[in-house]
Amino acid sequence: MMRLKIALAASAIALSLAMPAFADLRPIDFEKDARPTKGLVVVPVGMDGALTGRSKDTDKASNGALSKAIGLSKFKGEMGQSLTLYDAGPFEAVLLIGTGEGLKTATDLRTYGAHAATGTAGWAGPAKVIVPDAGEVALDATEAAIGSRLGSYNFGKWGAEQTEDAETAVPQGLIFLSPKPADAKAAFLDDGEAILAGVAFARDLISTPSNIKTPDWFAQQVQQTFAGVPDVTVTVLDESQIEELGMGALYGTGQGSTRPPRLVAIEYKGGKEGEAPIAFVGKGITFDTGGISIKPNDGMWRMRTDMSGAAGSAGAILTLAKRDAKVNAVAVLALAENMPDGNAIRPGDVLTSMSGKTIEVLNTDAEGRLVLADGLWWAQETYNPKLAVTIATLTGAVVGALGREHAGLFTHDDELAATFIEAGNSVGEQLWRLPVTEATIESIKSDIADVKNIAEQGAAPGASVGAAFIMEWAKPETPFVHIDIAGTAWENAGRPTEPKGAVGFGVRLFDEIARQYEAN
Ligand code: BES
Ligand code: MN
Ligand code: ZN
Repeated sequence: MMRLKIALAASAIALSLAMPAFADLRPIDFEKDARPTKGLVVVPVGMDGALTGRSKDTDKASNGALSKAIGLSKFKGEMGQSLTLYDAGPFEAVLLIGTGEGLKTATDLRTYGAHAATGTAGWAGPAKVIVPDAGEVALDATEAAIGSRLGSYNFGKWGAEQTEDAETAVPQGLIFLSPKPADAKAAFLDDGEAILAGVAFARDLISTPSNIKTPDWFAQQVQQTFAGVPDVTVTVLDESQIEELGMGALYGTGQGSTRPPRLVAIEYKGGKEGEAPIAFVGKGITFDTGGISIKPNDGMWRMRTDMSGAAGSAGAILTLAKRDAKVNAVAVLALAENMPDGNAIRPGDVLTSMSGKTIEVLNTDAEGRLVLADGLWWAQETYNPKLAVTIATLTGAVVGALGREHAGLFTHDDELAATFIEAGNSVGEQLWRLPVTEATIESIKSDIADVKNIAEQGAAPGASVGAAFIMEWAKPETPFVHIDIAGTAWENAGRPTEPKGAVGFGVRLFDEIARQYEAN
């Protein structure tokens, strides 16, 4: 299980803290779905308290205690409802989980698994989980097991006592019942654990506060995490290399901070030798004060998560490598801290990006697009990718437009748009396409440089302006997609598979996208 060691070099005392991830580390196993006769059981219940299959068997074995409880309570099997019974016939405890009109997708099963994990958290022994049949999904139990872990992620508290071994601290396990337990287990170990590792890595990075999370710290975490991972090469460019390569936009963004920028490339070669990779270019602003165009204080703390695009990209590569995906892929992380300072860039400054394109910076708070311009260009020059994706907590405007359920999707390629939307739906990272029109492209023309980093107030929609800006650095021959995750990177309330906090948006989506390139 992943642990990040943090050395706080700036302080006189080197502080070493282990950050917990996936605090619910109960062993997961799979068994043939025999009829449960005793112990602790998790039982799916359909609409109007419908008990079918093994759920019905469990009701019978308890002499109707389950259906009786449903009849006497408000629990009627609605999606997300749950009811716990203790001492029900031969069963020590039974957790009833509503499945409403029935589970259909892998995402539904993950949600079910998440409810199973949270609902049994205090139980004293291993619980058998009856897994509902979701029709089109091949290995339902695997998906439920993945969901059980996704939903119990917990970053923990700084300074709180860490248990030496979380596994022994919570010895009871979850046993998912399946008609094909060996297949379900193999799929969990091969693919499930890989997805969980990628999501955990991303969530840990996002959750870390920015006094620790400098660009250099981020680069070191990547180097440590990928050390010894087969087929992966990590490259880190420091501030002088960034400057020498002419990345004036990335360099300029970071120059107001005492903690210099980095460009990190994580290259995974699981596909054919020499085949062009798919590239994920992530915004990695380790803290966004806005710079000289400083943000208001209210909620500024959230800007410690402004590197969520970089985290999702890095996590996705970890997932691909861990599951031995037959694809070539690279994550490029454009890392900088956006600070106001005597050395910071000013509104009105002009920066020259690596491509030679010049930028009039009218607002230093529109910094994500600056670092992505150079990151995207460098990625294309270095890897000539067959698909390039930028992912970023780019605009408040996308939150206004789409809220927190969908990330914004921008591309000129209708086929790619459809592919991404479908992939997003299937893994529960939903996307909604927004336009990038000629008028929007026109709105960022500058009088004194090639482009300006913001449009006139009201001239064009804000999220699309950000996308149009980044697209200036996408080569015409590179299939290109931009994703704005400002509304989806952080979960305020908490959902079954996304507890309150960092989501790790992008990991599951990019894993799914990579699968499409593996098939071909
Ligand atoms: N990191 C912010 C965007 C953001 C806002 C992320 C809310 C997550 C939640 C970005 O760098 C930013 O400041 N964008 C500006 C752009 C504007 C100056 C054109 C914004 O959205 O206000
Ligand atoms: Mn900003
Ligand atoms: Zn930002």
